[in-house]
Amino acid sequence: MLNFYDTSTEPTPEMIEAMAHAELGDDVYHTDPTVNELERVGATILGHEDAVFMPTGTMSNLSAILAAAERGTEAIAEANSHIVYYEAGGVAVLAGVMPRTIPTDDGVLTAERVRPYLRKPDQHYPPTSMLCVENTHNRAGGTVTDVATMAGLRALCDERGLHLHVDGARIFNAAVALGVSVAALSGPADSVSVCLSKGLSAPVGGLLAGSAQFVTRARRARKLLGGSMRQAGVVAAAGIVALQTGIDRLAEDHQRAQNLADGLRLVGGLRVLTPRPATSFVLVDVAPSGRTADDVVAGLRRHGINASSRPPATIRFVTHRQISDDDVATLIKTITEVLGGSEP
Ligand SMILES: Cc1ncc(COP(=O)(O)O)c(C=O)c1O
Repeated sequence: MLNFYDTSTEPTPEMIEAMAHAELGDDVYHTDPTVNELERVGATILGHEDAVFMPTGTMSNLSAILAAAERGTEAIAEANSHIVYYEAGGVAVLAGVMPRTIPTDDGVLTAERVRPYLRKPDQHYPPTSMLCVENTHNRAGGTVTDVATMAGLRALCDERGLHLHVDGARIFNAAVALGVSVAALSGPADSVSVCLSKGLSAPVGGLLAGSAQFVTRARRARKLLGGSMRQAGVVAAAGIVALQTGIDRLAEDHQRAQNLADGLRLVGGLRVLTPRPATSFVLVDVAPSGRTADDVVAGLRRHGINASSRPPATIRFVTHRQISDDDVATLIKTITEVLGGSEP
């Protein structure tokens, strides 16, 4: 199957080699040298004092919220953010935190957009404790929050005493797209959660970075959630290789997303919603064909291609390390056939 999701990425031979030879210990006691090395390398790249290895991005975000916000407080987040949309309501159910959501078209929270949502202290309102930003923004189509916007949010959070958290599952893509260091985007936040298992193609895991004090609280939250692993160096070894070899090459994925968008513009029955993809995501609307996204995705699957359906009519394709130029051409040819047209 051709998987147009970056969550499907598989470890490279170099990662498998590193996993086979990883030096191991017990990460619950912080004595796994490979995990410790990953956390050290990760904290440096992210521009923070410390970092903790997390099994998933979802647990990482929830641990950040548990570490940063008291129960009964409010976290501001974009309305379609992963924390609000796809994390099973953990922010409310497990952290006891009330999400206050801001709708946007592009997934980008700016200080100007957030300010009207900040309320004066009043017994009627839950006090606001934190602001969560998603960079890149998944549902908006891999859109990017830039360095100047982060500076504005940092200033606002300082003014109002808020914790600034970045869900940076794909912050590496954002940095490469902007041509800045990852630390330039993640450093201004109080905490950043990153995934090693998406565009960077490690098999599992992520990091949550922040001050040493914050990371100590996040480690406790990870334990509370059952996410402290023992000989985790087996997977952390792949994470180190991912950080060393996976970031710069993301530019290739972005170029392939652009090539895909250009090719799909010539296909009848669909409209490309991201003619200039910000990163590795291409969104198309298949409504002009009169078909549903579920129907078209099922047709693609019958031809060996997996993509994400966003009903009623949007389909998401994500390029990554295991998608080649030929695979992009195959997708364009196949979707043309599935939509009943002739190849462009
Ligand atoms: C923006 C964003 N944050 C967090 C996550 C959660 O990552 P995981 O699947 O590792 O829990 C994802 C997963 O796709 C994501 O897109």
